[in-house]
Amino acid sequence: MGNTVTICFANNKGGSGKSTSCSNVGAALAGMGKKVLLVDGDMQLNLSLSFFDEEEVLKMAAGEKNLYYAIGHQSDLSDFIVHTKYENLDLVPSSTLMSSVEYELFTKWQREFILRKCLQKIKDSGVYDYILIDAPPTLGGWVMNILCASDYVLVPVEASPWGMFGLANMFDFLNEVREIAPALQVLGIVVTKADARKNYFKQTMETLKEMEGIYLFESFIRVDSSIEWSQDSSEPVVEFKKSSRSAKEYIALAEEVMDRVSR
Ligand SMILES: Nc1ncnc2c1ncn2[C@@H]1O[C@H](COP(=O)(O)OP(=O)(O)OP(=O)(O)O)[C@@H](O)[C@H]1O
Ligand SMILES: [Mg+2]
Repeated sequence: MGNTVTICFANNKGGSGKSTSCSNVGAALAGMGKKVLLVDGDMQLNLSLSFFDEEEVLKMAAGEKNLYYAIGHQSDLSDFIVHTKYENLDLVPSSTLMSSVEYELFTKWQREFILRKCLQKIKDSGVYDYILIDAPPTLGGWVMNILCASDYVLVPVEASPWGMFGLANMFDFLNEVREIAPALQVLGIVVTKADARKNYFKQTMETLKEMEGIYLFESFIRVDSSIEWSQDSSEPVVEFKKSSRSAKEYIALAEEVMDRVSR
């Protein structure tokens, strides 16, 4: 029985590459023989859409086999797992109703720890090597739940001025979360949608490298249209086009993630 490592992908900045990174790091780890459970924590359903087509995702979202239903009933998430077409890779799908989860948690006892409790049996079983959770672009009670259920948080950042703006807020929020979940660790920042030819990218990397106590992943993910094509086909790019630059970059990132959590 192994130890399950739980990592969430969070950043309140929208479009910073959380869902793309979560799906591809997950698929890359599964491809290396690790058993991975992905949890779609966002009402936008993007992590679910990375593996299933629109019709299937909407069907899961409308039914009872999704995270919203599980959280509402404070149920063990084991009963909400669906298998993807890839070996070693499972998913707890989301629902558009997740938009009201914040409101519904408000009156619950120990409301910050509901997701942690729903994941406890799965973690204790040791069936999965990794649980990866995709967070929505907000900082509130639900993201607090996601962080409190995680051992690590990985922060994808877009190499743009507005991508950098707000990072301080994110780290202030993480410090607040650590008051109630002291074991939570920042795994690091990964730069996404990079254009390595631009000076702005180089400056961003330098700025991030200087952030005290925060690890900057050596791997970064460049802008690549293969990512959009892969998402159009409901497949992670590491499976859709293994020869693409972004597939190789995501595999390198997954290796770096494995290396960092095993220290
Ligand atoms: N390396 C890349 N190259 C090109 N496009 C990318 C890349 N990474 C992500 N994208 C595109 O950028 C958009 C945002 O990515 P993604 O959905 O992963 O971000 P997010 O942080 O999950 O967004 P949100 O905050 O809305 O949840 C998507 O349309 C995705 O296709
Ligand atoms: Mg997303």
